[in-house]
Amino acid sequence: MSHAEDHEGTRRDFLYYATAGAGAVTAGAAIWPLVNQMNPSADVQALSSILVDVSGVESGTQISVKFLGKPVFIRRRTEEEIAQARAVEMDDLPDRFARNTNKGEGLPATDENRSMDEAGEWLVMWGVCTHLGCVPLGNNSGDFNGWFCPCHGSHYDTAGRIRKGPAPENLPVPVAEFTDETTIKLG
Ligand code: FES
Repeated sequence: MSHAEDHEGTRRDFLYYATAGAGAVTAGAAIWPLVNQMNPSADVQALSSILVDVSGVESGTQISVKFLGKPVFIRRRTEEEIAQARAVEMDDLPDRFARNTNKGEGLPATDENRSMDEAGEWLVMWGVCTHLGCVPLGNNSGDFNGWFCPCHGSHYDTAGRIRKGPAPENLPVPVAEFTDETTIKLG
């Protein structure tokens, strides 16, 4: 299920929301290679930032927002997901780097270095597999209760870190910040 926000003349024209439904995400994975080949129109390319209303995102669900032609996952994590992410030893991670644009390069891939807020409730990351660019499935998918890329079998944990499979890096965190309690600015 998805719908477009329609506020004429604002950047919100370009926002869309998708539920975390497996059907929707599966469709996304299947069609992504096609979509990826389409050139975004000039006005979309020109957008350097968008505002995302996350007031309707329930705990344990995620939305996918299209930004700069690519999906961004915004997940509101449960206590259990946060606890799982924070219990992981750094030695168990194939990619030791946080990959968080907002916090600088070279930081260790702790959950704290990847999540938006101190409590770790919000996780924002590009929804593009770091292997060859498919869109991973969400909703506690894969062997690590996070995301799973069915293209070649990459498993990401509840912090979006690669744990198993051919993907070389953690799902990167884009430039993002809260502008108020229920709005996230991307870019
Ligand atoms: S593109 Fe995701 S595992 Fe290959």
